[in-house]
Amino acid sequence: MCGIVGVVGNRNATDILMQGLEKLEYRGYDSAGIYVVNGANNGRLIKSVGRIADLRAKIGIDVAGSTGIGHTRWATHGQATEENAHPHTSETGRFVLVHNGVIENYLQIKEVYLEGHTLKGQTDTEIAVHLIGQFVTDGLSVLEAFKKALNIIEGSYAFALVDSEEPDTIYVAKNKSPLLIGLGEGYNMVCSDAMAMIRETSEFMEIHDKELVILTKDSVTVSDYDGNVVERGSYTAELDLSDIGKGTYPYYMLKEIDEQPTVMRKLISTYADTDGNMNVDPEIVKTVQEADRIYILAAGTSYNAGFASKSMLEKLTDTPVELGVASEWGYNMPLLSKKPMFILLSQSGETADSRQVLVKANAAGIPSLTVTNVPGSTLSREATYTMLLHAGPEIAVASTKAYTAQVAALAFLAKAVGEANGKQEAIDFDLVHELSIVAQSIEATLSEKDAIAEKVQNLLSTTRNAFYIGRGNDYYVAMEASLKLKEISYIQCEGFAAGELKHGTISLIEEGTPVLGLISSSEVVAAHTRGNIQEVAARGAHVLTIVEEGLNKEGDDIIVNKVHPFLATIAMVIPTQLIAYFASLQRGLDVDKPRNLAKAVTVE
Ligand code: M6R
Repeated sequence: MCGIVGVVGNRNATDILMQGLEKLEYRGYDSAGIYVVNGANNGRLIKSVGRIADLRAKIGIDVAGSTGIGHTRWATHGQATEENAHPHTSETGRFVLVHNGVIENYLQIKEVYLEGHTLKGQTDTEIAVHLIGQFVTDGLSVLEAFKKALNIIEGSYAFALVDSEEPDTIYVAKNKSPLLIGLGEGYNMVCSDAMAMIRETSEFMEIHDKELVILTKDSVTVSDYDGNVVERGSYTAELDLSDIGKGTYPYYMLKEIDEQPTVMRKLISTYADTDGNMNVDPEIVKTVQEADRIYILAAGTSYNAGFASKSMLEKLTDTPVELGVASEWGYNMPLLSKKPMFILLSQSGETADSRQVLVKANAAGIPSLTVTNVPGSTLSREATYTMLLHAGPEIAVASTKAYTAQVAALAFLAKAVGEANGKQEAIDFDLVHELSIVAQSIEATLSEKDAIAEKVQNLLSTTRNAFYIGRGNDYYVAMEASLKLKEISYIQCEGFAAGELKHGTISLIEEGTPVLGLISSSEVVAAHTRGNIQEVAARGAHVLTIVEEGLNKEGDDIIVNKVHPFLATIAMVIPTQLIAYFASLQRGLDVDKPRNLAKAVTVE
């Protein structure tokens, strides 16, 4: 969380920083700031509480320069105030720093090194820049002071530091927080995400943990903290500027929901050849074949996507699949099987909790596969293998197309492994055909937007709480549906196993409580869920049903075109995404940027 951008060289830094911050706003949006410098000791620092638009409103034409750093914040230490907004300055004001991450030992640093310093806010970052400034006051060069501070600071960080007396250089370092370099002609950049630099360059260079980079307009010097220079090449990112715009859509979320049929077709063309044969890296297939258990580790929607894929993976690969919440497993790893393999599901590829699990897996020599939407992301770089989602940038905080792409990508993996094992069910499963049907089913649901919006208006426009219920895969979809609804509509919503309600939770049902029932799967299961729906209706619940075609009955609300059972979680989740979208819209909320959240959660 938090977004960083910096530029040094022959460009209009203010413009580049503001454009970059707008693209990074998804990473945090409670406050923002920039520092722009035009020659030694001629810098301007502007900060604002609120969105990037609020910052922009404070920037006049006099805020100009060729070097600058900017930051959009998701508060960790200290409230969202102007004092706590980045950039932060050292005691004398000479050094200016932006930071993404959490400095764990900031209080000890304050106590040991910063006696007599006056701090303006409560952030860990301010302590870091004071520390660097103090070491320079003590007689160290800027570089030595930065290195010394980096050797003391514990925790996660991406730093960009400017010395106002030497403003043609940006000092950069990272540990566990994402950061990369963008290369230009006569200018260089640093940023949390390539997307925010793509207007300026498509040439990038990675920075690894515990590396320090000295950036000038025409040089990039990477070294470790001991000063050993690291030689590193650059790469060209295949990002399309149009992918990161909203086009004619009012919100990214709606655009991304609408893109799902295209994503399904893109996955078909990526992971199958024109004859329908699987095109999955044989090394990945072999690794799964050799495992006696697949562990899927993820957070939030990606965790739910793991559940949505579990039964398909088990049935096609004949390997048990266990799910783990990444934030729990990072430090409480349960007893594993003898030949485990880890799958990290992560849209961003930057989730700190998932990364912590991967660090542990790597240390234990466990083979790992990251399934991610972002090539070159931290999880992708650090896992043994990567499968990409090819879903295009997902910018709305609420994840939609990444969920469906994750399930679809895992379907290709499951089928490829099943076929390699000679399993008849996998050989007979015509995934290319079935996924095309899924794409059509999604299109059919998308064409019902107006009807869905109307049902949402009646059901969710004023309620405080709601339930999604279902059995089997529908229960897993209910988990995701409820996360989506609470995340962007602020309705307290639980996804529940339909049969489990009567064991306690049904006491929460009262007159008018919205209960959304999901019904796919078999006649028998459907009948049981319908029974549970009757039980809540009898207690006054306001029920809405989402039912797979063929299992529908008179009076059902939303009918989802039938798809192969392995892929039903994809088709069934689409109406729930639209329900969350319309609930948020109708309640007058910011659909794309819900309160307290950020897109890439890069702190543990
Ligand atoms: O980038 P990741 O998939 O690792 O992110 C995990 C969660 O933070 C993410 O899915 C989050 O739950 C979404 N905002 C939900 O819509």
